[in-house]
Amino acid sequence: MANSPLDKAVVDSKIKELRISDVGKASIREIVALVNLVEAATGVKYIRMEMGVPGLPPSQVGVDAEIAALKRGVAAIYPIIDGIQPLKEQAALFVKNFMNIEVDAKGCIPTVGSMQGTFAAFMAAGYTDTKKDTALFIDPGFPVQKQQMMVLGLKYESFDVFHYRGEKLRSKLEEYLSKGNINSIIYSNPNNPAWICFTDDELKIIGELANQYDVIVMEDLAYFGMDFRHDLSQPGVPPFQPTVANYTNNFVLFISSSKIFSYAGQRIGLMIIPEGLYNREFPALQQRFESATFGSTIVFRLLYSLSSGTSHSAQWALAAMLEAANKGQFDFVEGVKLYGEKASAMKKIFTDNGFEIVYKTDLEEPIADGFYFTLSYPGMTGNQLVENLLYYGVSAIALDNTGSDEEGIRACVSFVQPEQFGELEKRLQLFNAEYGGKGK
Ligand SMILES: Cc1ncc(COP(=O)(O)O)c(C=O)c1O
Repeated sequence: MANSPLDKAVVDSKIKELRISDVGKASIREIVALVNLVEAATGVKYIRMEMGVPGLPPSQVGVDAEIAALKRGVAAIYPIIDGIQPLKEQAALFVKNFMNIEVDAKGCIPTVGSMQGTFAAFMAAGYTDTKKDTALFIDPGFPVQKQQMMVLGLKYESFDVFHYRGEKLRSKLEEYLSKGNINSIIYSNPNNPAWICFTDDELKIIGELANQYDVIVMEDLAYFGMDFRHDLSQPGVPPFQPTVANYTNNFVLFISSSKIFSYAGQRIGLMIIPEGLYNREFPALQQRFESATFGSTIVFRLLYSLSSGTSHSAQWALAAMLEAANKGQFDFVEGVKLYGEKASAMKKIFTDNGFEIVYKTDLEEPIADGFYFTLSYPGMTGNQLVENLLYYGVSAIALDNTGSDEEGIRACVSFVQPEQFGELEKRLQLFNAEYGGKGK
């Protein structure tokens, strides 16, 4: 490690200080803490790719509406648990305009980030049927959702979709669904961490099987509209954000404001439940939560218990952002395109220096450039790669944190600034000179 820009002893001492036993297996927040300590001790600024912080200014429309709401005094008033009416209506309109899906405003419910939405939905789905006590994650996926399952004490299974794209997805899913214990299927699209996007054929397979086996599809759209290969930015104009909702009515959608509106700090997202599922009565759920329907369980049992609704002012902010997007006055896709541009430049720097993209294609089509991409280096496991890159001032998380069976790391582009590309290139050249594509 003669080339390393960082003093190995300092990095090692900070790893010890934080009591991280295997740095390659460290969680996102552990890597964040470690890099903060090393940066403070050495003065060397890392190329930080570990955490999905938006890294762009928040939407001004949202900020203005929130300030106005606060000045009107909404802070003093408990918000309605299932959301203020203007937000619910704009959310239904947004789903129509950008997905071409009709939903009732009643089923459009604000949550304290998508995190709270999935927490509540996993809990409800987990008790819909005593025989169906297990959720199924199509991985790779967002690690915190597995943590939610752990906290909830609910069971899950998962598989890495890497080898099961296209028609192969059907038999893989059926392998699990046919056992009769699965209550829901969960995935993000575009995918965190791999940035793969399911094709319409794949979404159709998921939807058809959800109908056949009566399971709820939880479609996490944290990166709504961000498959930049297609222009998904025009309200009411195709192409639309692809969705399983075209193929089944047994779905819950999660739309986060964190990335598309750079509104992560205010912790607001939307859960969209179609009317049929909202009003559906599940005897096991009724018994567990003493509530009539799936929708009323979510709203009046779970969200009521968790936080009694979502920040009142943030609801006004989100209503205003959705309204501006619906009217074509606010192009939220344009606002986040910078991520794609950064990904394209960063992928080139990495692949020029011995790295390979792990999840490379959506069937035949190269994946889009977006918020994340995945990397491997010949001869190194993902955990080794995380560790070795740390000594070169580059931080990321290992793919095995995400349920992937592939060896590699997840790179998040949001925090890396274009001014750092030169430095990234220099560090990777040193890294590649040290390891010569052979690993350790
Ligand atoms: C796939 C996925 N789902 C959900 C979230 C969390 O969204 P929120 O900030 O709305 O809770 C993220 C954030 O990184 C994510 O990547």
